[in-house]
Amino acid sequence: MGGADLYTDGLHTADRRLVRANARDRAVNGCGRKVSVYQRLVVVGATGAVGRIACTLLEERNYPWQQIKFLASRRSAGTKIRFRGEEHTVEELRPEVFHKGDLVISSTPDDVAREFIPAAVQRGAVVVDESGAWRMDPQVPLVVPEVNPEALASHSGIVASPNCSTTQLVMAMKPLHDAGRIRRVVVSTYQATSGAGVVGQRDLDQGSRAALQEEPYAYECFVHPIAFNLIPHIGSPKHEGYTSEEMKMVWETHKIFGDDTIGVCPTCVRVPVTNCHSEAILVETERPLSVADARKLFAAAEGITLLDDLAEKQYPMPLFCSGKDDVFIGRVRKDLSCDNGITFWCVSDNLRKGAATNAVQIAELLARRDSAV
Ligand SMILES: NC(=O)c1ccc[n+]([C@@H]2O[C@H](COP(=O)([O-])OP(=O)(O)OC[C@H]3O[C@@H](n4cnc5c(N)ncnc54)[C@H](OP(=O)(O)O)[C@@H]3O)[C@@H](O)[C@H]2O)c1
Repeated sequence: MGGADLYTDGLHTADRRLVRANARDRAVNGCGRKVSVYQRLVVVGATGAVGRIACTLLEERNYPWQQIKFLASRRSAGTKIRFRGEEHTVEELRPEVFHKGDLVISSTPDDVAREFIPAAVQRGAVVVDESGAWRMDPQVPLVVPEVNPEALASHSGIVASPNCSTTQLVMAMKPLHDAGRIRRVVVSTYQATSGAGVVGQRDLDQGSRAALQEEPYAYECFVHPIAFNLIPHIGSPKHEGYTSEEMKMVWETHKIFGDDTIGVCPTCVRVPVTNCHSEAILVETERPLSVADARKLFAAAEGITLLDDLAEKQYPMPLFCSGKDDVFIGRVRKDLSCDNGITFWCVSDNLRKGAATNAVQIAELLARRDSAV
């Protein structure tokens, strides 16, 4: 498929539909006939790498939230955030802040999410959580709106958004799984430093400058220097030699598809790229799919942009996918080593669809679904 125009195409089909639906909701709200049960949107972790993008998205997407509040740690309390032309003061996260009718988008470390979310839910708030704290809780749906929106129906106050490396994987798997039933996936990730938050971004920036000037630099976030290096270790040792990041990809994929018989073999690698995770993915399907079938399925899928013309040097790259909401796929090929294998390259902005975009989409779906007439 042709290239440059696809990179500049900001909204994908699902978002366009959502924007049209939001406009309809605004119109209905204007007539006073249909009102969301959520009176206030609360952004927790608003000063972090994901939280800042969530704020940008909320401005861009223009959903008609009545009130908005920004929270972070005590360190950031009192700092200012500009939102839709007005200055807002960041407040310290405390349980008393939450009330019935709050819809919360939360992007904090796992331990913070584990502690404050039950208290927020007890006070009547509904929380969309980006952290890993609640994803595998059987009572908590783990949702990618283009893949398993039906899971939202069963929430009891918490909805989890998957790990960034899982989200782009399941987005890519979904059309092939629907058409040919995926039995096995082998995935190698090339994960950007922004995946480790503000500190990870700073480590790459300052570590690279120091390396070029042959000066020492004490990395805050990575276990080895990331500048001019690759680190095949994300998270902590978890299971049979796999890391916690790798096991998230296995367990979250099973939960999202509701099928723990899908074989998933991940290798997660941190690379010196500022933003956007890339993945080399090989899937084996039960029913054979040709390369032409796979390309057609990717091209038609919501939230996916196919960019696949090797002769014209068209394929997704992190530098050009950054700031985009879609998951980009290219280099679609037949696996030469097995009968029903398709292999491809997949790039996604980990701070957008891998985190903030997915959470904001979930929040918008909840707000539209839970509207009272
Ligand atoms: N980065 C990604 O690509 C990505 C993708 C998917 C999911 N996630 C998940 O999203 C969450 C946030 O990640 P991030 O990359 O945005 O991290 P980050 O840049 O380190 O930001 C963390 C945010 O949490 C706040 N926070 C920290 N401790 C707190 C406390 N005790 N009370 C209240 N707020 C506190 C921070 O506030 P201060 O600024 O005041 O410290 C900041 O706003 C993590 O669970 C991460 O695993 C990240």
